[in-house]
Amino acid sequence: MTTIVSGSASQTLAASLADELEVSLAAVEYDRFPDGELLAAAPDFDDDRAIIVGSTVSSDAHLELLQLQDAVREAGAEDVVTVLPYMGYARQDEAFEAGHPVSARAVARSISTGTDRVVTVNPHEEAVCEFFEPTATAVDAAGRLADPLPADLADPVFLSPDAGAIELAETVRDTYGDGETDYFEKTRHSGTEVEISPSDVDVAGRDVVVTDDIIATGSTMSEAVGVLRDRDVGRVFVTCVHPLLARNAVTKLRRAGVETIYGTDTIEREVSAVSVAPAIADEL
Ligand code: R5P
Repeated sequence: MTTIVSGSASQTLAASLADELEVSLAAVEYDRFPDGELLAAAPDFDDDRAIIVGSTVSSDAHLELLQLQDAVREAGAEDVVTVLPYMGYARQDEAFEAGHPVSARAVARSISTGTDRVVTVNPHEEAVCEFFEPTATAVDAAGRLADPLPADLADPVFLSPDAGAIELAETVRDTYGDGETDYFEKTRHSGTEVEISPSDVDVAGRDVVVTDDIIATGSTMSEAVGVLRDRDVGRVFVTCVHPLLARNAVTKLRRAGVETIYGTDTIEREVSAVSVAPAIADEL
């Protein structure tokens, strides 16, 4: 028998996954000692297979995931599957400067020791799966991102803010069923400063859907939308797999003129309109 065990940042998704798979959802407790140390536990867990679901959106969430892996082993689980709906640090997949770590590899190694299998969702680069020791696979959730779009998009254009995300934009177009695709050129100057050069596609009077894998600070998307606004675009919809929406990202996007922002529940936010539970369930 299988039981789902949720990290504190992924409780809604874990419950949806339990429903999809028709398995039970463990009781979990998340505590903090007076010195700041965490204690995540699954006190009644008593099964031979655990699926731990936890996006590592913070260092605490990462530590909690390691504790839950250990807790279910301690309680007798023989097979532990770790679902990382969002893998933190995945974008740091190489040492960008001398003396820097390959943070994604360090994170993957720590998670690998407590699990027999890893499933993640749209990592920034799929090659990050190779950093894990047990089998790690990536689920593509982009197919669901077209679901919340209105059926009456005017002559739609599906754009990505850079060449790296064009496949996501193409997937959203394909599932929507109609429209042109293209991408902007992006130059990143710092963690919060990006420059976006327009694509050649004519957007005047047309509805545009801009898709990326992650919206973090919102700099990439707000720049992209700013470029569109200068070109007399119709409605603008912004969508992503991982709505990290750090700091002032939402305000930045609204000020740029975005009408609708939505993403999936890999990171549980108000804008998480699409669940990746069915896609993860298929993979499992
Ligand atoms: C990077 O290439 C990613 O695909 C995203 O474009 C990036 O992580 C978004 O970050 P931000 O929202 O901070 O611009």
